[in-house]
Amino acid sequence: MGCDVPEPGRVTRPLVRWYARARRDLPWRGCRDPYRVWVSEIMLQQTQVERVREYFTRFTTRFPTVESLARAREADVLRLWEGLGYYRRARQLHAAARTIVADHGGEFPRSVEALRSLPGIGRYTAGAIASIAFGVRAPIVEANSRRVLARLVGHAAPVGGVAGDGPLWEVAERLVPARDPGLFNQALMDLGAGICTPERPLCPRCPLAEVCVARLTGRVAEIPAPTPRRAATIIRETAVVTRRGDRVLVERRGAGEWWEGLWDFPRAATAPRGRRLGVVTYTVTHHKVTCTVVERAARGPAPRPTRTHRWVAPRALDGLALSAPGRRIARLIATGED
Ligand code: ADE
Repeated sequence: MGCDVPEPGRVTRPLVRWYARARRDLPWRGCRDPYRVWVSEIMLQQTQVERVREYFTRFTTRFPTVESLARAREADVLRLWEGLGYYRRARQLHAAARTIVADHGGEFPRSVEALRSLPGIGRYTAGAIASIAFGVRAPIVEANSRRVLARLVGHAAPVGGVAGDGPLWEVAERLVPARDPGLFNQALMDLGAGICTPERPLCPRCPLAEVCVARLTGRVAEIPAPTPRRAATIIRETAVVTRRGDRVLVERRGAGEWWEGLWDFPRAATAPRGRRLGVVTYTVTHHKVTCTVVERAARGPAPRPTRTHRWVAPRALDGLALSAPGRRIARLIATGED
């Protein structure tokens, strides 16, 4: 691999000691219920800890067990997820809950391999659940621990992705202890979040300062190497709020679209005539979208609702799982402001 991994005990011991005093108090900690560990890890895949806190509590209050989630309607799961983004996670969580109940009698599989066969569970999430909930000696590499590991061993090549993270998985595999592997993994993540930060890390307070190769060789600022950013693509679009009496038309996003399965206002291929309500701007992955919102009136009796189209009173939009721009447009309708 071209870099030295310190003797595991020289990492584990100071790290676990540091964690005992500095660990973050998070609502999914302090209990090894695999359901709660799983829900938290799925939420944390692409979302900051502070944001996950409130969502996690709401979600697990409404769906306290894997059985209750399996019984839920997908629309209710998506509504609770709204605002967290990356809705595929919610759909896969729901699908996996049904599989766990139908095929595993409601018991979580305990091995990394079996966990990985469930929808939405990759190498990292399987390692987190297996180590935290079941005490399996499984490594993890995620956004925060990736940086800690790269600096610890002085790994200067770009990280991230299957190829970039390969060497770091090897480092994590060698370091993770047989005793309390979940504690060790969470300590690595907390160290990355609070001490070994991307900018201005607090090395003098780091329990691993004495063994950290990046620190010892003066390369903390260069490691990990920055990943090249993809240029933003600019998109312009028009959303149409069609009113019929006191109702507006909403459309469900289709398979393969952003926000698949969530409700939104139809987009027009060419700008229709109508009253301009305002402009909503949003970013999706590397796309920057400017969306002009136009209101127009429709006449005649409302067609029947279908699986993909509904006429709803604006106040009923609150109870509907809307896409992020759809929610902003709903606010524009309600208040005239985004
Ligand atoms: N990020 C991802 N998983 C985490 C966890 N279990 N604790 C803190 N941060 C995390």
